[in-house]
Amino acid sequence: MAGQIGYNRLDWENRTTEIGYWLAAEFQGRGLMTAACRKLIDYAFDELKMNRVEIRCAAANARSRAVPERLGFQQDGILRQAEWLHDTFVDLVIYSMLAEEWQRLR
Ligand SMILES: CC(C)(COP(=O)(O)OP(=O)(O)OC[C@H]1O[C@@H](n2cnc3c(N)ncnc32)[C@H](O)[C@@H]1OP(=O)(O)O)[C@@H](O)C(=O)NCCC(=O)NCCS
Repeated sequence: MAGQIGYNRLDWENRTTEIGYWLAAEFQGRGLMTAACRKLIDYAFDELKMNRVEIRCAAANARSRAVPERLGFQQDGILRQAEWLHDTFVDLVIYSMLAEEWQRLR
């Protein structure tokens, strides 16, 4: 198993979903997660009819943040100390992509 990706949350009322992911160390650095995200984003907009896809990353997690940035997501803001990670609270950066933006990028 190389890693995992999925929809952490499906908010049908507001047609918003959030993608979460991780990759085992030996599978990093090949573009696999960026490609996998692209598929889930396509599916979210085309099949699930979502309007907004979010990716939330720990502020200090540069590799995780690089994924939405590579895909053209916009940074919406920072949720201060929003996640308990290991032994401390960390800030989360929220990135988003809208259906109309993804349509343009494709
Ligand atoms: C976050 C995580 C999945 C990112 O992994 P990643 O390997 O950097 O991401 P990708 O699979 O998209 O690969 C991108 C890398 O492959 C390279 N790459 C090679 N071919 C590529 C291609 N065709 N397309 C895109 N990138 C490519 C990129 O340059 C980039 O490498 P770089 O960072 O050295 O520049 C991984 O670091 C991880 O699982 N970390 C631990 C868990 C975690 O932090 N999860 C997220 C919680 S919010």
